[in-house]
Amino acid sequence: MTALEVRDLVVEYAQSRGKPFRAVEKLSFTLEAGRTLALVGESGSGKSSVLKALSRLVTPAGGQILLGGRDKVPAKEYRRAVQMVFQDPFASLNPSHSVDHHLRRPLLATGRARRGTEADTAVAELLRQVNLTPAADVARKRPHELSGGQRQRVAIARALAPAPDVLLADEPVSMLDVSIRLEILNLLDDLKRQRDLALLYVTHDLATARHFSSDIMVMYRGQVVERGPSDEVILNPKHPYTQLLAAAAPRTGATRAEVRAARQVRAAARSARDAERRETVVGDGCRFRPRCPFAMDVCATRPPEAALGGGHRVLCWLQSEGKAAA
Ligand SMILES: Nc1ncnc2c1ncn2[C@@H]1O[C@H](COP(=O)(O)OP(=O)(O)OP(=O)(O)O)[C@@H](O)[C@H]1O
Ligand code: SF4
Ligand SMILES: [Mg+2]
Repeated sequence: MTALEVRDLVVEYAQSRGKPFRAVEKLSFTLEAGRTLALVGESGSGKSSVLKALSRLVTPAGGQILLGGRDKVPAKEYRRAVQMVFQDPFASLNPSHSVDHHLRRPLLATGRARRGTEADTAVAELLRQVNLTPAADVARKRPHELSGGQRQRVAIARALAPAPDVLLADEPVSMLDVSIRLEILNLLDDLKRQRDLALLYVTHDLATARHFSSDIMVMYRGQVVERGPSDEVILNPKHPYTQLLAAAAPRTGATRAEVRAARQVRAAARSARDAERRETVVGDGCRFRPRCPFAMDVCATRPPEAALGGGHRVLCWLQSEGKAAA
């Protein structure tokens, strides 16, 4: 079942001079109940801008966001149904309030529990669901008394308190110790299953995107350049940008030579990115052209069209050469 449908979403930021900067360009996708969609892409590609629009932290410059098939859902109802988990659990929790306060507030505000013992029980149940026990001890603590992983569990519990349909997770483990990242991702995965949540997982990490998501969207400078089933996108990437990302991320257990090769790809990507910044005119063609090793004449003049069949879509002329020649 479709929980959230995004149609032609545009996000723009005002600039001190000239036209607004367009961070997200006509993006469309759906989030399905009980499934995870990963959004990957390098820094500045527009991932957080998508999430900010979906959580109504910024007003889109265009497009529609339909919750349960409905457009323009009233703010209170929307805020209950669409919850966010941020990258930095310390910044997202108030240091002067206890864990209990962080969880009780949304429970009461959304009418999930009444004051008193009903709220006490609901707080304890939320803590149990995120594996923070004994609940009574944890509930009394303040954020600084918890580890990074425990803080992120509290942030997740708080997001669950209003019983949302959609969970937006913006790099939820990138600031945590490597050793506990998988625990937190497994927790999100379990909760998604138990609660039939539609999960949007934003990450730089292709390996966890593949492991925890049914589908992946790869974003580059405001556009999704490739999307499809996770295995298909990671094991058989078609867009030169996805190929670059995959080559720059050595698989677990890679040999020394593979790690060295990945390092070289990352260095080449950095210098290509610098060259791209110096190049002021991208023109009407493909946005990836300044960095693309396969660029053709058509790439400079016409934006590529989505190609490939089934659920796998790629925005690249290489995949639709017949049309490119037309
Ligand atoms: N409030 C803002 N005002 C102006 N420009 C912004 C604002 N927020 C983001 N941008 C710009 O929009 C683009 C996309 O930023 P966004 O934060 O969405 O990227 P991201 O993919 O989340 O990057 P990261 O991986 O670093 O978190 C960037 O070029 C960024 O500089
Ligand atoms: S459309 Fe052209 S420039 Fe863009 S990724 Fe494909 S081959 Fe490269
Ligand atoms: Mg971001």
